[in-house]
Amino acid sequence: MAGKMAVYPGSFDPVTYGHMDILRRASLLFDRVLAAVSDNPQKNHTFPLPARIEMLEESLRELRLPKNKIRVESFSGLLVDYLKEKKTPILLRGLRVFSDFEYEFQMALMNRHLDPQVETVFLMPDASHIHLSSTLVKEIVSLGGEVRDLVPRCVLRHLKSAPAPNIP
Ligand code: PNS
Repeated sequence: MAGKMAVYPGSFDPVTYGHMDILRRASLLFDRVLAAVSDNPQKNHTFPLPARIEMLEESLRELRLPKNKIRVESFSGLLVDYLKEKKTPILLRGLRVFSDFEYEFQMALMNRHLDPQVETVFLMPDASHIHLSSTLVKEIVSLGGEVRDLVPRCVLRHLKSAPAPNIP
């Protein structure tokens, strides 16, 4: 398939309006974007992989993008191997607050060490989303707070039906 494709990997546990904002921006820059949901059994995710994928797919419909502009897949193993499999060197990450930088910088350089062809591209979300994270959303919900303006509607539904001890 022709055109530049970028891979936007993450836990999406769950997807927030911050992720959606990055995906919308990426859709304007790249021909295709692959939202890659991490399937890592060692990570203690709140939502199982199928639910994280379902929330992301349903949320993306809100963006009303052309079909196949953004696709959702899961991946396991090393990200650099997945990029190679997808035949693209473009790895996309969002940068919010300054505290993200150290972790993201380390990951970008380590991925470059593992595969010098891989290029990490950082996008900043809208300023209204820089304080937003999946972890905070889950904490707020678990304490009875309102997150309606932080996550897509289908995520709200999942958050409300998730068993309480599982959040955050
Ligand atoms: O949304 P997150 O939790 O910040 O995403 C982190 C993710 C999934 C991108 C990262 O954990 C990852 O790349 N995992 C794949 C395993 C891997 O390649 N590890 C080496 C990274 S330098």
